[in-house]
Amino acid sequence: MEGRLINLSSGLPDAKVSRAADSSVLRISGGHRLHGHVTISGAKNSALVIMAGALLCSEDCRIRNVPLLADVDKMGQVLSALGISLERHGNVLDVNASEIRTSKAPYELVTQLRASFFAIGAILARLGVAQMPLPGGCAIGARPVDLHVRGLQAMGAEVQIEHGICNAYVPGSKRRLQGANIYLDSPSVGATETLMMAATLAEGETILENAAREPEVVDLANLCISMGAKIKGAGTSTIIIDGVPKLHSTDYTIIPDRIEAGTFLLAGAITRSEILLSPVIGEHLLPVIAKLREMGVKLVEEAPDCLRVLPADILRPTDIETLPHPGFPTDMQAPFMSLLTLAEGDSLINESVFENRLRHASELNRLGADIRVKGNTAFIRGVPMLSGAPVICTDLRAAAALVLAGLAAQGQTTIHGLQHLDRGYDRLDVKLQQLGAKIQRLPATGRDREFINNISDTSVQISSK
Ligand code: EPZ
Repeated sequence: MEGRLINLSSGLPDAKVSRAADSSVLRISGGHRLHGHVTISGAKNSALVIMAGALLCSEDCRIRNVPLLADVDKMGQVLSALGISLERHGNVLDVNASEIRTSKAPYELVTQLRASFFAIGAILARLGVAQMPLPGGCAIGARPVDLHVRGLQAMGAEVQIEHGICNAYVPGSKRRLQGANIYLDSPSVGATETLMMAATLAEGETILENAAREPEVVDLANLCISMGAKIKGAGTSTIIIDGVPKLHSTDYTIIPDRIEAGTFLLAGAITRSEILLSPVIGEHLLPVIAKLREMGVKLVEEAPDCLRVLPADILRPTDIETLPHPGFPTDMQAPFMSLLTLAEGDSLINESVFENRLRHASELNRLGADIRVKGNTAFIRGVPMLSGAPVICTDLRAAAALVLAGLAAQGQTTIHGLQHLDRGYDRLDVKLQQLGAKIQRLPATGRDREFINNISDTSVQISSK
C-alpha cells in the first residue's frame, strides 16, 4: 500500500517548509518581560521513537499529542517510504503498518534524522530483515550505533555494514529474533529503544542491563505495552521483555516535552518574568528544577501538571554536569548556559554525554557573555548584561540557547539557521510571542545574508543535521 503522506507540521509541501526555515531569521528585541500561560507540546523524543514503535503492530495505531516539528515530518517520510500509511489530523497521527512494503529505508532521509535508525529494531522484529542507512555523525558528535548493532547480534541477527548501510537479517526458517541477556556498555537512549522494540516480538525473554532510564524510554515501553507487549522495569536500569507473537492496535497519548518545558522555565528566569506552564510532569524535570532553585529562581507547583516560574531576586551561579537520566539532561545544557551567563559569579558546565556540544558558547560570547571552553568544560563568568547581535544556530538546543539569550539581551538579536530550531521546537517563536516577547520570524534581508557570508569562524559551520 503506497503510504499517503501529507506534510505533518504545517500542511505546506515539505520543500516550502524547509525553504521557509532556511531563508528566514528571528529578530528579537530583548529586555521585555513575559507574562501569561504557555502550553507545552508532546515530547519530540517520544514522538519520533513511538512512530517507529507503531511499525511493530500490523493494525491501526492512533498516536495523540504529536508535536508539529520538522523532525516528525521527516520521520513520517521515512515510514511512508517503507510503505506505511500515515494520516495526520492536527496533533493526532494515524499509522497503519499492516504492510511494510520494503525493508530498505531511504538513505538520504535516515542520514538526516538519527531517530529513524531506531526503527531497525521494529523492522527486524516484523520482517526478519532490514537495510538501514547509518545515521552518521552530526554537529554534537560522532553518534555511533555500535550498541544498537551488538544488541541485535546478541538477539541472533547477522549484521554487515557496507556502503553506509546496516544490513541485518535473521537466519533460520522462522526469521524470528531470539531473546537474550544484553548489557549495554553505556545507558544509550536509542540503543535501549531499538533493542526494546526488537525484543517485543522476539522468541523468549530479553533482559536489558544498564538500560537508559529517560522518560521517553518509559513512554515507548508504555506504547508497546498498550499494544500487548510484555515489558517490565522500564525507567529502571534493568528492563525485562517477554516476546509475544503479535501486537494489536492502540490509541496512545505522548507525554509532554520535558525539554520544551525546561526551555520555557529558563525563558521566564532569564527575562525575570512570572509565567505559567502546563502540562508539565514535574518528576521528569527534577534535576532542572533543582538547579533553577539553587540559582534562586522560584518555582511553584500550581497543580499536578502546572508549574509557575517567578523571578529570582539574585541569580546565583551553579555548576552542572550532564549525565544520563536521572542526572542533568544534556539537552538542557545549552539553554541553561544562557541563564548562567547572567548569574552573579562563576559557573562551570561539564558536558559528559556528547563530545562536541559546547559550540553555542562562541555564539553566546558574540552577545557579550564571558565563556571559556576547554575540552568538554565551559567556564562561565557572569556578566551584568548581554547585548544583541546577529548569531548563528549550530544545532537544535544551541538554537534554543540563542533565543533565550536574545530575550534578555539589550537591543536587537538576529538569529540565523532556523532549520535547527524548527527540527525540535513546536513553534517556539509563536509561543514566546504569545507570552509577550518581542520576537518575529522575518525573511532574511541582504544584510542578513551578508552576515552569514562573512562569517569566517570555522567553528560555526552550519551542519544540516
Ligand atoms: C537521544 O539520542 C536523544 N534523541 C538526544 O536528543 C539526547 O541528547 C540523547 O538521547 C541523550 O539523552 C532522541 O531521542 C531522538 P544516546 P541518542 O544513544 O539515543 C554514545 C535532542 O536534542 N553512543 O543516549 O542518539 C553517543 O555517542 C537530541 O533532542 C555510543 O557510543 O543518544 C553519546 O555519546 C540530541 N554507541 C552517548 O552514547 C551507541 O551505539 C549517548 O547517546 C549509541 C550511543
